[in-house]
Amino acid sequence: MKFFIDTANPDEIRKGYEMGVIDGVTTNPSLIAKEKRDFDSLIKEICGIIHDLPISLEVVGSKAEEMIQEAQTLSRLGDNIVVKIPMTTEGLKAIKALVSRGIKTNTTLVFSPTQALLAAKAGSTYISPFIGRLDDISQTGMELIEQIVTIFNNYDFESEVIVASIRHPIHVLEAALIGADIATIPYKVIEQLSKHPLTDIGIEKFLEDWKKIPKN
Ligand code: E4P
Repeated sequence: MKFFIDTANPDEIRKGYEMGVIDGVTTNPSLIAKEKRDFDSLIKEICGIIHDLPISLEVVGSKAEEMIQEAQTLSRLGDNIVVKIPMTTEGLKAIKALVSRGIKTNTTLVFSPTQALLAAKAGSTYISPFIGRLDDISQTGMELIEQIVTIFNNYDFESEVIVASIRHPIHVLEAALIGADIATIPYKVIEQLSKHPLTDIGIEKFLEDWKKIPKN
């Protein structure tokens, strides 16, 4: 299972990368706005940290032609840039055109299995169902992942499923049990995944006992 980090914060990206558990980065306009920085310099800094892993950057146009133009500009920032395209009929047109130009795409804002099916048919490299936002409106987001993974296995689609809008470690656990290809995870949740109270208690006890050992 691959882990992407879901942030536009360079420090978080650096820390996740140094931990050795990060296989890519996803951003969106809201995450970028949170950094309160000039877009170009922020993206340049992120690309300077991560050269060898996919970085998803999102388009903001609503017409296919606009999305294609933006995607071409973004993809010039590096070979590892993946362009995030919203799940609309215009988005599907853009994905098809970008696939034929060799530009990788990540279909975003996917909330139903049939949307995922369409994005896979259009040839999207990655597909991002947002589970936390479904949980927020009292629908079980993880059921969507189960359905999409089943459909993709039924037909051998090549698109990889990115479980997105992850809010806590149980989301990651359930995504892994289902066999989703990727989870894109906020830095805070990556840290939470690493923690266990018995680990902390164990370290403390070992250190205490270490102090009791006579040393030269
Ligand atoms: C995914 O690519 C999105 O950036 C992200 O997971 C959205 O998460 P949110 O619902 O917490 O905003």
